[in-house]
Amino acid sequence: MQQQWPSFTVVEHPLIQHKLSLMRDRNTSTAEFRRLLREISLLLAYEATRELPLAATEIDTPLERASFPLLAGKKLCLVSILRAGGGILDGMLDLLPSARVGHIGIYRDPRTLQAIEYYLKLPDDLAERDVILVDPMLATGNSAVAAILRLKELAARSIKFVCLVAAPEGVAKVSNVFPDVSIVAAALDRCLDAHGYILPGLGDAGDRLFGTK
Ligand code: URA
Repeated sequence: MQQQWPSFTVVEHPLIQHKLSLMRDRNTSTAEFRRLLREISLLLAYEATRELPLAATEIDTPLERASFPLLAGKKLCLVSILRAGGGILDGMLDLLPSARVGHIGIYRDPRTLQAIEYYLKLPDDLAERDVILVDPMLATGNSAVAAILRLKELAARSIKFVCLVAAPEGVAKVSNVFPDVSIVAAALDRCLDAHGYILPGLGDAGDRLFGTK
């Protein structure tokens, strides 16, 4: 399946799979859901940043001066799609505390499932930054495509999309429209239902994260 979308990766690490299964359980509390999402996000950040460039730097250890790798440039920007993206953002910031942060507010029209942007706040120097765009659920792909279009319009240097659960429909859409955007997910589920929810999925990620339902 993944060969169909060369830019798509499922991170099959047992810790991620275990924690995601707990998140799917309808009886998992809001507090537990939030904690698990934060923990998985930290692990997904590890995968999403695996190609960050390093530069040799002289460092004085207590015994001698030698050359060691440090991150080169560190021009990262995490962009969260409101509101559920905030759950991934928190975990990623634990690992990347000095990354810049942007927000894109997008909601799905419940009738047409089309993405409508209502908020945008990004760093001014996006053209010099590699962006990791985050949203837990890649469902129809409409929100992801709208957000990526906006980031490209503002000339982001590169874009990676990180989600928790992806539907084949969403992966196909994003990778067909933007073959240059890599997608990292913790799982690829079966399909969407008639309302655009992922099956089996975990329900509404925003509601479960914030306890709004
Ligand atoms: N958004 C969600 O929160 N859940 C889904 O299953 C699909 C989109």
